[in-house]
Amino acid sequence: AKSGLLHGKKVIITAGSTREALDPVRYITNRSSGKMGFALAQAAAEQGAHVTLITTVTKPAIYGVNQILVSSTQEMFDAAIAAFETADIFIGAAAVSDFKPEKTDHHKIKKTGDSGLTLKLVQNPDILKTIGQHKTHSQIVVGFAAETQNVEAYGADKLVTKNADMLIANDVSRSDIGFSSDDNSVTILTRDKQPEFLDRAPKITIARHIISRIVTL
Ligand code: PMT
Repeated sequence: AKSGLLHGKKVIITAGSTREALDPVRYITNRSSGKMGFALAQAAAEQGAHVTLITTVTKPAIYGVNQILVSSTQEMFDAAIAAFETADIFIGAAAVSDFKPEKTDHHKIKKTGDSGLTLKLVQNPDILKTIGQHKTHSQIVVGFAAETQNVEAYGADKLVTKNADMLIANDVSRSDIGFSSDDNSVTILTRDKQPEFLDRAPKITIARHIISRIVTL
């Protein structure tokens, strides 16, 4: 799309749920399917952007979208930081694990007698926050907030703490929107405009609207 609103722009998008390995056969993850991130990638590509989609799930290729497959938060972090250096826009739609096991066993963890197992988790690096801290004046950073309560208030907090230009607040307590659903409903938060609530619609419709709002930034 030569006439696209993002013609020639480089857009980095993250999608899916990160996986934190406990041992070679087990991992900790969450319910993200990657659908929202893929919809955003398609919507950005429709506007002529060169999209790099850093994803934990594979789906059929989209014209104009280069997929980079990762698994853990650290891998997603490394790929995102490297790609962002030359990017115009970053959109963090992935559901990133805040915590990971303190250590990953090289072999399958075995049962010992009747005793349970205590896992120690440590914090993962924060991709969005790091990118927000390092962005230049010409780079735009967009994050999501997946919340089960106080959705708009927590979203507004994350707009500030992650130094983002736009934050998409997503209620993930509902089963008809959010995780894994084909539809979504979100509130778009920015620094200078009133929150904009988007009623339930297919993720591609929501994605096209988010992209059109990013263009106005
Ligand atoms: O994938 P789907 O099934 O289509 O579902 C879509 C979705 C619900 C996953 C998506 O719309 C969404 O809300 N994504 C953000 C999920 C999330 O991790 O939210 P959070 O509130 O925990 O994180 C806030 C922001 O910081 C997010 O942009 C997240 O990508 C980012 N983050 C969080 C932790 C971390 N260590 N690094 C990060 O970059």
